[in-house]
Amino acid sequence: NTNINRTQKARAHTNIALIKYWGKADEQLIIPEDNSLSLTLKDFYTDTEVRFDKDLTADEIVFNNHLMNKAESQKMINFLNIVRQKAQQNIFAHVKTQNNIPTAAGLASSASGFAALAAASSKAIGLDLSRKDLSRLARRGSGSATRSIFGGFVEWEKGNNDQTSFAKPIEENVDWDVNLVAVITNRHEKKISSRRGMKISKATSPYYQAFKQVTSRDLITMKKAISNHDFDLMGHTAEENAMKMHALTFSSDPSFTYFNGDTLKAMQLVHELRNEGINCYFTIDAGPNVKVLVQHDNLKKVIRKFKTAFGQSNVVATVPGPGIEYLN
Ligand code: PMV
Repeated sequence: NTNINRTQKARAHTNIALIKYWGKADEQLIIPEDNSLSLTLKDFYTDTEVRFDKDLTADEIVFNNHLMNKAESQKMINFLNIVRQKAQQNIFAHVKTQNNIPTAAGLASSASGFAALAAASSKAIGLDLSRKDLSRLARRGSGSATRSIFGGFVEWEKGNNDQTSFAKPIEENVDWDVNLVAVITNRHEKKISSRRGMKISKATSPYYQAFKQVTSRDLITMKKAISNHDFDLMGHTAEENAMKMHALTFSSDPSFTYFNGDTLKAMQLVHELRNEGINCYFTIDAGPNVKVLVQHDNLKKVIRKFKTAFGQSNVVATVPGPGIEYLN
């Protein structure tokens, strides 16, 4: 292949799940138990460049200007192995990846990371994948990455095998009033990976089947809210669904939680704001940081409240963002 020495660069934005994915039907292929739905975010993204090089004897991965050792890069190497296998090529790669998250850390995401790696590496090795096939490929790195191929509101249709499990855009250009305020309460890596957390919940929470049932209902409500541009129904449904997911962590054996004290404080502030007549709603993924959905008229008040409580640098506002972009 004549193009194989070229550097390919891609940008993928992270996403926040409004209807949560929590549990795998197939751990190897990352097929989820249920459909999920997310919003891609403009200001949190990963840029990744990849060049395959037949002189290399191993993959060389630089993450935020730090050369990763083998243990640190194992998940990315496993992913590159899948790409090599698809392309029937046996060459190693230089990978340079940069997380562009305004406040350094705390929102780092495997979603944008594996979506960007899927796009850049598949192109660099000479595969010309459709967005559907990119979504399927990104899924092999991390479930949430399946959705980051597309912009705006995105649904991951669970399917039942590698061919049929991929994401689809619901509304790529969000042309109505949706803002998100990220509240960072902790910048460290989470102790329980989502991979492990969902496995424990599926195996032990007595509420797991109930979660599946309500999630399929919440998904229908969420899609209706999006198509009607009904902000309050969207926010309310997202907040309820997030709490149901986190209830699975509390009810697992051993039980665990991603919340810290400041997570609870942020949730309480959202309740206070609503009591003051300011419509905003929170959602939380597998970590302690809180994302608040709010409309433009209330944005300033919400930002002020959270900055006062958590400090200037721990509150970042953003809007819906685009899907995968190639940068060269
Ligand atoms: O795919 P992972 O390992 O990033 O897990 C995602 C789990 C949640 O963020 C909690 C829910 C979701 O749908 O993104």
